Amino acid sequence: MALSCNLNRYLLLMAQEHLEFRLPEIKSLLLLFGGQFTSNQESYGKSPFWILSIPSEDIARNLMKRTVCAKSIFELWGHGKSTEELYSSLKNYPVEKMVPFVHPDSTYKIKIHTFNKTLTQEEKVKRIDALEFLPFEGKVNLKKPQHTFSILEDYGLDPNCIPEKPHNIYFGRWIADGQRELIQSYSVKKRHFIGNTSMDAGLSFIMANHGQVKENDVVFDPFVGTGGLLIASAHFGAYVCGTDIDYNTVHGLGKATRKNQKWRGPDENIRANLRQYGLEKYYLDVLVSDASKPSWRKGTYFDAIITDPPYGIRESTRRTGSQKEIPKGIEKCPESHVPVSLSYHLSDMFFDLLNFAAETLMLGGRLVYWLPVYTPEYTEEMVPRHPCLRLISNCEQKLSNHTSRRLITMEKVKTFEDRDQYSHLPSDHFLAYQGHNSFREKYFSGVTKRIAREEKSSQE
Ligand SMILES: C[S@@+](CC[C@H](N)C(=O)[O-])C[C@H]1O[C@@H](n2cnc3c(N)ncnc32)[C@H](O)[C@@H]1O
Repeated sequence: MALSCNLNRYLLLMAQEHLEFRLPEIKSLLLLFGGQFTSNQESYGKSPFWILSIPSEDIARNLMKRTVCAKSIFELWGHGKSTEELYSSLKNYPVEKMVPFVHPDSTYKIKIHTFNKTLTQEEKVKRIDALEFLPFEGKVNLKKPQHTFSILEDYGLDPNCIPEKPHNIYFGRWIADGQRELIQSYSVKKRHFIGNTSMDAGLSFIMANHGQVKENDVVFDPFVGTGGLLIASAHFGAYVCGTDIDYNTVHGLGKATRKNQKWRGPDENIRANLRQYGLEKYYLDVLVSDASKPSWRKGTYFDAIITDPPYGIRESTRRTGSQKEIPKGIEKCPESHVPVSLSYHLSDMFFDLLNFAAETLMLGGRLVYWLPVYTPEYTEEMVPRHPCLRLISNCEQKLSNHTSRRLITMEKVKTFEDRDQYSHLPSDHFLAYQGHNSFREKYFSGVTKRIAREEKSSQE
């Protein structure tokens, strides 16, 4: 109770993209900055308007220095389901909280933001004029005001059914914008070194936020590829390192991914990518190594492990092995000590990844990774578990009608002991886990196309 008395109300204007990823991002960041996600709002669903209660403007500003899911934050002065309700709520807002922003020496401007409707200039001016009861004593300055206020009108989510009047109206003092511009400035299109599976910039930042990456952290990606995920973590001030089984990728050699270029040029590598963004000082190293056989000494090294394991669609899921492991029926060469390449089942890969995270993460550190799923068969039971890792969030991104990938975030809550290694396997849960192995098969077998055809014909 005492806590809620000290909370101020803020309005977050959310971007209408990656909807499922938004709440875990905001929750993770608030926790990182000493706040907590507190709200009386029942459901966030798909709405771009979220009311939050947080203890200080500093926390709100810190949140906006990190979020890519939110566009802006406002100190909420009033809110209603009609103009009358809004005005009465504004009249109840304590004047002493308004004074620092409305005194005679201040300059200000009022903006209108509508969602799912466009207003004429005349309608906008009318709405601003109607606020004359507010105690603004400063001068209007449209170009460089000290304070910016906004009226935000919410006309719902259905573009085919736009109501005459808004469902909700808000008035607030603008505090800060989020980091949406990072999506452009770090776009893969303009990046020096890329590959077929380079992670999209926006999602990379969302992953780093779900992972609560912060300054001076050490972040590791065991399936580093072209290092897209390292870049986002380094941008937030973390030191980064990674491994990949592919020699060419780690050394920036081999065929180029860009259409008009045949081979990778000199200096096309992860270090150069970080240099491109002025982040080279955060580069620790990248090594050629097989994630199924991590070469780390026992210990806790990482504050976060953020990764996108291969699904076997655009890159192979291989691991190294010995001659002894070659399946029956395939020719062996017993005297050879050269490692062979074996297929790496997705279930083994996630099993290894969780164990590795449980062993090498600091307590409280986070593992963030993508889990590919065949949606008709997906159940929550399929999400890999570990006794040392608590599930924080599980968000879906659709890839096709029947396949998606889920962004899984887990937090290390218990020190790893040797007996923890297999304790999550001998259960029914393991069977569900095995289902991941058929992902590639289903993706390529035409099952998805056949189901789509069947569904279509059953609707005709
Ligand atoms: C989806 S990609 C990662 C892309 C990366 N996030 C980026 O932005 O470029 C998966 C990577 O895992 C690597 N990989 C596959 N099997 C591996 C293994 N057993 N150990 C380590 N890396 C592996 C592949 O070479 C590929 O580069």
